[in-house]
Amino acid sequence: MTLRLTGTTALVTGASSGLGTAYANEFARRGIDVVLVARREDRLKALAAQLSADFGVTATAIAADLAAPGSAAALRAEIDARGIRVGALVNNAGFGLHDDFLDADPARTAEMIDLNVAALVALTREFLPGMVAAGHGVVVNLGSTGSFQPCPSMAVYGATKAFVLSFTEAVAYEVRGQGVQVLAVCPGATATEFRAVSGLHADRMETGSQTPAQVVAETFRALDRGRTGSMVSGRRNKVLIALGRIAPRRLATAASARMLS
Ligand SMILES: NC(=O)c1ccc[n+]([C@@H]2O[C@H](COP(=O)([O-])OP(=O)(O)OC[C@H]3O[C@@H](n4cnc5c(N)ncnc54)[C@H](OP(=O)(O)O)[C@@H]3O)[C@@H](O)[C@H]2O)c1
Repeated sequence: MTLRLTGTTALVTGASSGLGTAYANEFARRGIDVVLVARREDRLKALAAQLSADFGVTATAIAADLAAPGSAAALRAEIDARGIRVGALVNNAGFGLHDDFLDADPARTAEMIDLNVAALVALTREFLPGMVAAGHGVVVNLGSTGSFQPCPSMAVYGATKAFVLSFTEAVAYEVRGQGVQVLAVCPGATATEFRAVSGLHADRMETGSQTPAQVVAETFRALDRGRTGSMVSGRRNKVLIALGRIAPRRLATAASARMLS
């Protein structure tokens, strides 16, 4: 299977910073039009102008709070109204909270589930049918190395990413053989605004940190090879996840707690 996106548009959520900006940049570099979604409209507009100027693509900025109820359907309606056909969806918008479960603000915790899980599922449900009908398309869902084991002090975040991995691998299996690639990308520490937003100590995220461009390059290498299901980004992360999979669950949980403390 080769990546067939010409004539369609890539919808990237969380495009106002970090990995989302890097995904949007790579689609545009490949000559694919993009729709950029996040809450900070000024950043989206600046990125859209830059991508149009640099690569000659049509880049559309749509400001939306994807944690809000009904946001996926509203976004779909707006995209349809503009006559845009989405051939690639990157469900990248997401955030973490670094705190013990009982100390975290319950409203922020709920917002994290709404964004990391509910919006990702709803957007996949909105856009995947069109790709299956067309016989080609790509859905990339951002998981994490935290998808693979419990994450004490980021308990709900880790659980949302475990959901993303399980959901994505299952849907990838369901649509196999229909020309659509559905892939969970699981990065480890990556140099973005994530750590500041989540309240993670910088030094805990620094070791072995990847750049967004590295994660995106690995994603496209995998997509270009026809990969579906899931992938871990970064050699060091691949080794750690492989070890974690054979370790007793309690040991993997304790190791994860140490890394996140
Ligand atoms: N960085 C890491 O170490 C790491 C590791 C593993 C997985 N990930 C995952 O990678 C994805 C991207 O994160 P990142 O590292 O690039 O972090 P980031 O730089 O903080 O970017 C997060 C993006 O999500 C958007 N966003 C947040 N809340 C939103 C909302 N309610 N509605 C719409 N958009 C919203 C933000 O834009 P606005 O604030 O403008 O809305 C921003 O564009 C996330 O799913 C994260 O869990 C990151």
